Amino acid sequence: VFLTQEELKRIAAFKAVEFVKSGMVLGLGTGSTAKFAVERIGELLQQGKLKNVVGIPTSKVTHEQAMSLGIPLSDLDSHPVIDLAIDGADEVDPHLNLVKGRGGSLLREKMIEGACRKFIVIVDESKLVPYLGGSLLAMPVEIVPFCWKFTTERLQILFEDSGCVAKLRTCEKNDEPFVTDNGNYIVNLYFEKEIGDLNAASDSILRLPGVVEHGMFLNMASIVIVAGELGVTMKEK
Ligand code: A5P
Repeated sequence: VFLTQEELKRIAAFKAVEFVKSGMVLGLGTGSTAKFAVERIGELLQQGKLKNVVGIPTSKVTHEQAMSLGIPLSDLDSHPVIDLAIDGADEVDPHLNLVKGRGGSLLREKMIEGACRKFIVIVDESKLVPYLGGSLLAMPVEIVPFCWKFTTERLQILFEDSGCVAKLRTCEKNDEPFVTDNGNYIVNLYFEKEIGDLNAASDSILRLPGVVEHGMFLNMASIVIVAGELGVTMKEK
């Protein structure tokens, strides 16, 4: 029997929630995989199997979902240290570096997941790549709307040697710029070749005025739970 991608996502999410204990402050991820984890946490709270957890949502969508499940919520200002965060990823490399943000919520995710003691990433096996950018799908960068064409061009020039194409993310329905939870735009970077030194790439993106944050999550994941046809594997730092 083949499992669907949705089933694999749910399996990874449920496995991650086994790490959740009563009394924890939890970073709640965003996306089609993380939503299963949030659902499960809500269920365990309702059943009384979990108590006194506080959720810190990484997006407006997750905030809504968690509210509807009755998960008590707070934010980083009130809880600057988070026990455990659970979230999906778009790409995972062999060193557990990630690309995130194809759903559009990378900034809040990076702030919250950067403040947690343990960060568990949940993916189905399709997200594993030999190197970041290797899926040939977008690597998102959040930028301010002011003169976005200028910033987009600067980003493309920065990675000229890797055959980078930079494109503003637009909404499918009306081709208007996609606007993040923070009122910013997203530029998608597509690479023809490997980027090389990821830390250097990260630094140079962040040094560009107009850039708010990028979707490379380097050295942040503590554990990656991968659900595949042959079962669940756990990769640890
Ligand atoms: C949200 O912006 C992202 O960072 C998600 O965590 C990531 O895109 C993975 O999403 P899926 O679980 O929907 O693939």
